[in-house]
Amino acid sequence: VLNTDEMRKRARKLPTAIFDAIDGGGGDEITLRENRQAFERIWFRPRALADVRHRDLSTVVLGERVSMPVLLAPCGMARMARSEGELAVARAAGRASTIFVVSGASSYPLEQIAEEATGPLWYQLYLPSERPAAEALLARVERSGYRVLCVTIDSAVPALRQRDYRNRLTIPPRVSGRLVLSSLRHPRWTKDFLLGKVGDGGLGPVRLAVWNLAMTIANNKVVTAEDISWLRARWSGPLVVKGVMRPDECSELIELGVDGIVVSNHGGRQLDGVPATIDVLPQVVEAVDDRIEVFVDGGFWRGADVVKAIALGARACLVGKAYMFGLAAFAEEGVDRVLDIFRTEIDKTMGLLGCPTIADIDGRAIVRGSTAVTPSPMP
Ligand SMILES: Cc1cc2nc3c(=O)[nH]c(=O)nc-3n(C[C@H](O)[C@H](O)[C@H](O)COP(=O)(O)O)c2cc1C
Repeated sequence: VLNTDEMRKRARKLPTAIFDAIDGGGGDEITLRENRQAFERIWFRPRALADVRHRDLSTVVLGERVSMPVLLAPCGMARMARSEGELAVARAAGRASTIFVVSGASSYPLEQIAEEATGPLWYQLYLPSERPAAEALLARVERSGYRVLCVTIDSAVPALRQRDYRNRLTIPPRVSGRLVLSSLRHPRWTKDFLLGKVGDGGLGPVRLAVWNLAMTIANNKVVTAEDISWLRARWSGPLVVKGVMRPDECSELIELGVDGIVVSNHGGRQLDGVPATIDVLPQVVEAVDDRIEVFVDGGFWRGADVVKAIALGARACLVGKAYMFGLAAFAEEGVDRVLDIFRTEIDKTMGLLGCPTIADIDGRAIVRGSTAVTPSPMP
């Protein structure tokens, strides 16, 4: 498997409803497509005479050194792709010396994922609407050693996922004739899904994931400024807000005490019709003005995409679908391979661009727009 596109093709062996649940987006999937297409409007300006014999991809994310500016985004229900689910992702992230952001709708208990992990973890919170429930959840997160809390704010109501409707993918799952037929057509997936690996508790994790997801939806995870203040007072570690798309809101978030922002449209899976995150990123970076760290996700598919985001001021990128397809196609080794692909591609891009370190990648390394006109450098 040479690239993430090929990994996606390998993941087509999943039952259609599962593949679509990972691959699909909200509404007409305009944002889903735009997240990718926007990268094609950004061009590199390689530096002449740079000594790139040695290249260093490492960087520091909220005080933690990572081997490359690629983190693993929170993806709920990973066990749907492969029974090892988040346990495999946590192990692969540790091997790659980077951070795994564990989903608030994960299919294994957050304690079990933490035990399996060898690298640093963030916990992605879907804030429970009742304070005692939130309090109890945060206590578990703290006890398990998660260092960073990442609150997702773009999922106030369930999205319009047309592929899921068409595939009749419901929460909780309904056993329909269609589902049984699809399971029979994918015996390997069905066996793995039903029996799992020794020691993973069979269908237990799936029940947990479905419960998590149902709670997520039932609770309508509305997050207000008051909630962020409460979290800030309650959580002593770094606090990150995921799902910011407006530069004019950054100062308020910084005043509320957040330490990082993820520019995210949830991979085009929530509100359709919002711009590509890579197009919003420079405005957010300008508004934040180095006061806190800015991260970005949505459509990161190639190492070159990551380098473009760094040039536009991101501290690091998060990838979602790419590693989920790796997990679906080849289990843990698939996640390893996807991270390998990103590492190799970032390394080659940096070498050819004339940037031996992450710090060398700045606005001068790219131009945006058509190359037919004389390009002006980025500010
Ligand atoms: C299958 C799947 C499940 C996801 N579940 C969550 C989740 O539980 N919480 C969350 O904040 N984001 C979730 N996301 C969004 C990702 O964290 C991330 O924002 C997005 O996938 C980035 O875009 P990309 O998939 O194009 O890399 C999910 C994405 C996918 C593909």
